[in-house]
Amino acid sequence: MSNKVRIGIIGGGLMGREVASALSRWFVLDNFPVQAELFAVCDLAEKQREWFRAIPTVKLLTADHRELLASPEVDVVYVAVPHHLHEALYLDVLKAGKDLLAEKPFGIDLSAARSIAAAAKTSGRFVRCSSEFPFLPGPQQAYRIAREGKLGKVLEIHSGFHHSSDLDPTKPANWKRQVKTCGEIGVMGDLGMHAVHVPFRLGWNPKRVYAQLQKIYHERPDGKGGMAACDTWDNATLHTEIDLDGAEVPVRFEMKRLAPGETNTWFIEILGTDGGVRYSTKEPKTLWTFQRGKKQNWSRTDLGFHGPFPTITGGIFEPGFPDCFLQMWAAFLAERAGKLESRFGCVTPEEAVRSHELFAAALQSHREKRAIGLD
Ligand SMILES: NC(=O)c1ccc[n+]([C@@H]2O[C@H](COP(=O)([O-])OP(=O)(O)OC[C@H]3O[C@@H](n4cnc5c(N)ncnc54)[C@H](O)[C@@H]3O)[C@@H](O)[C@H]2O)c1
Repeated sequence: MSNKVRIGIIGGGLMGREVASALSRWFVLDNFPVQAELFAVCDLAEKQREWFRAIPTVKLLTADHRELLASPEVDVVYVAVPHHLHEALYLDVLKAGKDLLAEKPFGIDLSAARSIAAAAKTSGRFVRCSSEFPFLPGPQQAYRIAREGKLGKVLEIHSGFHHSSDLDPTKPANWKRQVKTCGEIGVMGDLGMHAVHVPFRLGWNPKRVYAQLQKIYHERPDGKGGMAACDTWDNATLHTEIDLDGAEVPVRFEMKRLAPGETNTWFIEILGTDGGVRYSTKEPKTLWTFQRGKKQNWSRTDLGFHGPFPTITGGIFEPGFPDCFLQMWAAFLAERAGKLESRFGCVTPEEAVRSHELFAAALQSHREKRAIGLD
């Protein structure tokens, strides 16, 4: 396999541009074995396409994703479109013989996720799903500490993602607020993959879920002088249980679009009898760790710029969203090239399907007001 990989993007909106940003500074990765460049972009909207014209490596701009997929120059396709389009577009990418970095939630519902995962398997293509926050240094440390098993008996786990962007009722509705385009799972589809990635990778798979789902604003301005119905879930708290070393351990997943004071907060807390770890992007360079001793004492560590893949950036500088997004892409392309080694990888199709199984059970739990078992 040549070490040059050409990327095509389908959906040049918020996230499509983030990919362009990550690929445009690929050279900051130090001695990385794969050269990645953005070659083609597809978006229905001309205004969105035009933004990519400033990127010198982009040679193909189109409104038709089939034209992008027909290009022999494109090796890997990243798709970032509304959720109701995931299944059809992801299947088209695989049929065209391209590898796929899919956006979450990997299909609008469980049945779509299963169909994409099955197509990924039969096609033999390399497929992963996006979830970038675990590639920050703090989550990497939390993952390492949990994996080393030095926390004693694990007492509880709390993992989540909080926004406050929807607190303002005058914010216009968009596709993320409606079941037909975002999915019945609502905020779980929007933010859930971020919350489950690290626990799932640690093998912490819920056996049971009791869900509290909230719909706060039922309509919003439609941007044309009227009002539009908003029928997705705004906030979700999933109380789950895992089996760990012969004990039942509670894991709470929180996904909220209405979380006062939060812009884009990813967090994890793992508490055990001998130790604990706590990280939040609210304090992006701080890792809190606990070790049982005579005094009850949490220690604060200032983290540097140490992602899984070395970069030219100084080790004492602070990382942010564009950095973890670049690291996620590095993990995707390294794994595709068989060079991930022992590093943390992107969400697999199996993990994505498992997340949908959890969210489908959460919908059932909320409907029936009882805990639902998961296989
Ligand atoms: N990883 C993350 O942190 C993160 C953050 C936000 C959104 N997302 C995910 O990314 C995806 C897109 O979200 P977004 O916020 O970028 O949306 P967006 O609305 O900003 O952009 C979507 C783009 O897709 C284009 N589009 C729609 N149908 C198309 C088609 N058939 N062919 C080509 N282009 C088409 C639209 O014109 C639009 O420009 C969703 O799956 C969402 O859940 C991920």
